[in-house]
Amino acid sequence: MTQLVLAPMEGLVDWRVRQLLSATGGFDLCVTEFIRVSQNLFPAHVFHRYCPELLNGGKTLSGTPVLVQLMGHDPELMGENAAFAASLGAPGIDINFGCPSKTVNKHEAGASLLKCPDNLLRIVSAVRRAVPDHIPVSAKIRLGYADKELFLDNARAVEAAGAQHLTVHARTKLEGYKPPAHWEYLARIRDAISIGMTGNGEIWDEADYAKCRDISGCDSFMIGRGAIAAPDLANRIKAFENGTPKPKECWADVLLMLLSYCDLMDEDGASENHQAGRIKQWMALIRKSHAQGNACFDEIKRIRDIGELRAKLKSDMALPENQRTAVPVAAE
Ligand SMILES: Cc1cc2nc3c(=O)[nH]c(=O)nc-3n(C[C@H](O)[C@H](O)[C@H](O)COP(=O)(O)O)c2cc1C
Repeated sequence: MTQLVLAPMEGLVDWRVRQLLSATGGFDLCVTEFIRVSQNLFPAHVFHRYCPELLNGGKTLSGTPVLVQLMGHDPELMGENAAFAASLGAPGIDINFGCPSKTVNKHEAGASLLKCPDNLLRIVSAVRRAVPDHIPVSAKIRLGYADKELFLDNARAVEAAGAQHLTVHARTKLEGYKPPAHWEYLARIRDAISIGMTGNGEIWDEADYAKCRDISGCDSFMIGRGAIAAPDLANRIKAFENGTPKPKECWADVLLMLLSYCDLMDEDGASENHQAGRIKQWMALIRKSHAQGNACFDEIKRIRDIGELRAKLKSDMALPENQRTAVPVAAE
């Protein structure tokens, strides 16, 4: 049975997005945005801010477990924070070794740690030691920093350190988010380790999924931008895998999801600026999967007033399908 994981995405996939996408269906697991561990043991409210699901048994409202992701270079401090997150109810701890941010990498965290497999060994071992045995520890890596020379050594280090699972974003740090993702490397890692493994990178539709599955031989996949661009993607992949493919969700459903996102931000007291920014950010990705998103993004990109923005989304929903934002559905 294929497992689908909603990717952690800082500034993009917060608890609200996890709630909406896990309720839409198809995802078996979520991971929080990274929590940067650099100097101290965080108090509970910090973990609750990143992962309010901790107050719901570590699951989204629709029951999907949410791993807490930590990123840092100090093994002991990572262990202490991991143990505390576990005591607050995290169903698992994930360690980020893939972040390409310049600031983060300057401080020897994220992807820069991939330059020496021993870094991974020390950090994962410390977290594994600190967390109770029944709480799984996983790590997320890229294929390397500047080149792919150490991809197998890094994967083996994660396994040797006692992690239960490894997620591999099939690109180096220098390759950033540029296509292609090198799915063939996933197969080589799978052959080299015996812990569970999740493949990640450039899955935007069912065809990408099938290609990635066939090339990598993985049975677990993490989806990032593709799931934001098409919120029903995980559902469609599961249906495709079961031999009952589904059509893409209609434009009105996408708009409804954005409006629900506004409602959740409203309830939470998010500022109008923040709300408008998030909707535009989401729409910028939606246009990669929904042709109507292009025209809609052009119309909303200069709107700053959240009331006006919501009204635009609602008016688009009320139009007949073939008149919404001027792009006929057949163009999808
Ligand atoms: C805006 C953004 C924020 C991200 N934040 C995180 C993060 O907090 N933790 C992490 O492990 N990966 C993070 N990633 C990487 C994604 O989890 C994923 O590995 C990457 O986007 C490749 O998958 P995709 O091609 O399906 O998008 C981020 C990616 C993006 C685009």
